[in-house]
Amino acid sequence: MNSQEAQQKIATLTNELNQHNYNYYVLDNPTISDYEFDKLLEELMDLEKRFPEFCLPTSPSQRVGGEVTKSFAAVTHKYPMLSLSNSYNEEDLVEFDRRVKEGLQLNTSDLFSANEVEYVCELKFDGLSIGLTYVDGKLVQAVTRGDGVQGDDVTTNAKTIKSIPLQLHGNFPKEFEIRGEIFLPKKVFENINKEREQNNEALLANPRNASSGTMKMQDSAVVAKRKLDCFLYFLLGNDVPYKNHFENLQAAKSWGFKISKDSTLCIGINEVINYIHYWDKERHSLPFEIDGIVIKVNQYNQQLQLGFTAKSPRWAIAYKFKAEQVSTLLENISYQVGRTGAITPVANLKPILLAGTTVKRASLHNADIIEKLDVRIGDTVFVEKGGEIIPKIIAVDFTKRNSDSEKTVYISNCPECNSFLQRKEGEALHYCLNENNCPPQVKGKIEHFVGRKAMNIDSLGAETIDQLYNAGLIKNIADLYDLKKEQLLPLERMAEKSAQNLIEGVEESKKIPFERVLFAIGIRHVGETTAKKMARNVKSLNKLITLTKEQLLEIDEVGETIAESVLNFFADTENKLLVERLAKAGLNFELSEEQLQNASEKLKGLSIVISGVFTKHSRDEYKTMIEQHGGKNSGSISGKTNYVLAGENMGPEKLKKAQSLGVKLLNEEEFLNLIS
Ligand code: IVH
Repeated sequence: MNSQEAQQKIATLTNELNQHNYNYYVLDNPTISDYEFDKLLEELMDLEKRFPEFCLPTSPSQRVGGEVTKSFAAVTHKYPMLSLSNSYNEEDLVEFDRRVKEGLQLNTSDLFSANEVEYVCELKFDGLSIGLTYVDGKLVQAVTRGDGVQGDDVTTNAKTIKSIPLQLHGNFPKEFEIRGEIFLPKKVFENINKEREQNNEALLANPRNASSGTMKMQDSAVVAKRKLDCFLYFLLGNDVPYKNHFENLQAAKSWGFKISKDSTLCIGINEVINYIHYWDKERHSLPFEIDGIVIKVNQYNQQLQLGFTAKSPRWAIAYKFKAEQVSTLLENISYQVGRTGAITPVANLKPILLAGTTVKRASLHNADIIEKLDVRIGDTVFVEKGGEIIPKIIAVDFTKRNSDSEKTVYISNCPECNSFLQRKEGEALHYCLNENNCPPQVKGKIEHFVGRKAMNIDSLGAETIDQLYNAGLIKNIADLYDLKKEQLLPLERMAEKSAQNLIEGVEESKKIPFERVLFAIGIRHVGETTAKKMARNVKSLNKLITLTKEQLLEIDEVGETIAESVLNFFADTENKLLVERLAKAGLNFELSEEQLQNASEKLKGLSIVISGVFTKHSRDEYKTMIEQHGGKNSGSISGKTNYVLAGENMGPEKLKKAQSLGVKLLNEEEFLNLIS
């Protein structure tokens, strides 16, 4: 193929694929199979690789992501991104309608419909608001709300969202902004949490947090996998085609945007109220979360006449649904033991339908909450489901309490291993301290050990761990390395292939570097980052176990709690034995040759503060270098600071402080010379 043909083909494929994306993600009406789509995309990406000069900014290959944004640039909104005032009941809405009519000088006592206001009712999507700017039909910028005046430029991540068009079609204005909401469909959210549960990661509280968290991720390839979606609901610009909101929404739909089909034109507030009644019932059947309804005056001349308050437009209002509440019987209180030994009291309820799902359990959090609510077994309790997945008990219906009910006494022994529970001063939770023998804690430790960010043995999920533990084959993490295929084969659902995978996965894990092994062994309070810093600093486990508390405290990010936790861990003979067995099995307990080569002790004992913007390396890279060469990163300048690594635009306060304390400033070159 010559270059002219390639250019032509790239353009055709780009158009064709964008149309297919639109059919699939906006119209929900695909005309080719996923397989055919993937083939075409592969062909395009292959051509783009060979002829990168012809790759178009609207290419669907950008949706795959891959670009990493270290920090999102702040962008000032051309039109401030206001929020809406809220209403909670019919009276609030009638009052809103009255204010609108007053503002428009319509005769409020006139009952003829000529005096009724046209409103557009829309679903209030529960996600993250976004402003998209298009120039000549191409997406040029996507900015989050931020504080309403300034937001983050998240264009790279937004481009991975398939329902956001990269190239418009039809008769669109030359330049405009369109605003909408990025959200995660309920199903996708559930799947993410299922996966997180398997990987032993903390669950995401609700789809809204999940979508805003996703949009702030640095790696757009991860964002692309998250299957975010986006509805648009607000068009801004000087040459939009119509003089009212509703028609402009329909026009935007024809250019390729995903506009909700449930947006409706209502005449007068009564029709609005009917719309709200309908969705209050039906909202649970939607495939995404909404937290209310948005009501907007349709005609722009009326919007103009009504204007804005300091915070929100006078021509629109949000109606918030009440968090649904039901009352039901508290049948029992049970206590769960987590991986860390933390005890969570759980209310077991008589099953009841709430917000579209059957609720059987609610968290009671801790002993103090039980005491404060005075909940007792046999009580009728009020249960509420807000935006969170786990329902809450709000209160007891004391009018229904039995006269013979007994005050709840919090358990004193672990429900799993019967050891005595402890509650430290000032802490809300009770703990079981029998960490090496209490079954859920042992299994939890093993799950943590095999997790993706630890030893990454993905052939070993929570279920298999349960099975191996119950069969007595593993009682701790070191036992994994003694497993034999013959022991696995008799187990239920364990085929030859899965047994083989498991053994191979365990074997493969011996290559995992020291810093991750250190994280995997599960020293309380030693997270991924701390483990990394400790590993780089001490270079081997043998060294780590000789350190005193003072020496531990010298390591970056290690404070009192962590230092004590490390000392306690290695003071325990059982833990020492475990680590010895792991070392014998061949796990990495020191830094690799390569990691050692990049390291020195040139900055040993020096405390360095990084400030400003750099050109040769990123801030994180400099932080790593400081650690690798034995130095300590410090957040603020003090008498103990030895150097400030100063980039461009170092804050004036910091500069003054450094000068007054006589701390030497190093620029990038000077720093690199120091360690070279
Ligand atoms: S219109 C000036 N329409 O709710 C009008 N907002 O406090 C601006 N939202 O920040 C907003 N669905 O993130 C509008 N159909 C909808 C909406 C909607 C959700 C969000 C939006 C905004 C907040 C209002």
